[in-house]
Amino acid sequence: MKKLITILLLAAVPLLGHAAGPAIKLDKAHVDLRDQASLQRGAQLFVNYCMGCHSIQYQRYNRMARDLGMTEDEVRENLMFNPDHRIGDTMTIAMPKEHAERWFGTTPPDLSVITRARGSDWLYTFLRTFYVDESRPFGANNAAFPDVGMPNVFWHYQGEQRATFGGSEDNPVLESLTIVPGTGSMSSEKFDDAMRDLTAFLTYVGDPIKVERERLGIWVLLFIAFFTVLAYLLKKDYFKDVH
Ligand code: HEC
Repeated sequence: MKKLITILLLAAVPLLGHAAGPAIKLDKAHVDLRDQASLQRGAQLFVNYCMGCHSIQYQRYNRMARDLGMTEDEVRENLMFNPDHRIGDTMTIAMPKEHAERWFGTTPPDLSVITRARGSDWLYTFLRTFYVDESRPFGANNAAFPDVGMPNVFWHYQGEQRATFGGSEDNPVLESLTIVPGTGSMSSEKFDDAMRDLTAFLTYVGDPIKVERERLGIWVLLFIAFFTVLAYLLKKDYFKDVH
């Protein structure tokens, strides 16, 4: 019995590790992977604001075109900025590792599976919780990823976000984040919507066949239901003379 309990406890360790995420409360992203317009807007934000530093190396441009309901020409014109890239290529970037390390102290990670690793709610929260911190190299810190080595790329949309800390001097606790009025070009609802689009896009990238799989799943269930009924009727028919 003791052994069994130990095994069960050990099996739960990875779950506990996963649950112990960042201390801040995550906001729900509520992404809709069937909303192609939202995914397209997210793709636009990604290639314009993230792909300078981050690749999504398992995603191909033409696959994205097909899944997001765009023509290959639309993707070539609006979403492909690297003249060396072809429509069948993966969405990699050209930043050499040594440069990245010199500039940021670390390499910007590939974001293909970021929503699987961290969750969509985490990404949505991360994107909206950059705040001004003059002590950081890029003047910005992040509530979901303390001391992140990444600049706040959307400050002109969101505006200047200021953090208020409570707790003690040695152990400051983030209490609230507020935007300085008039510093961003988007209202906070608009900014949240834009970040939801970007989160939706990266959620799609993390599992490109999810929508297709769910669509197929419904047909599989209908098929099973249909054959259950058929089998039942057959059984009734075969056994009707057996007493
Ligand atoms: C100027 C370069 C640059 C740009 C532009 C940039 N990032 Fe980053 N990003 C980084 C670096 C460097 C890190 C690694 C930070 C660290 O480990 O401290 C990072 C880390 C991240 C992480 C955390 C990854 C992890 O380890 O869990 C996420 C998520 C992320 N970036 C998303 C984005 C998104 C989305 C965009 C576009 C809106 C973006 N980044 C734009 C440089 C950049």
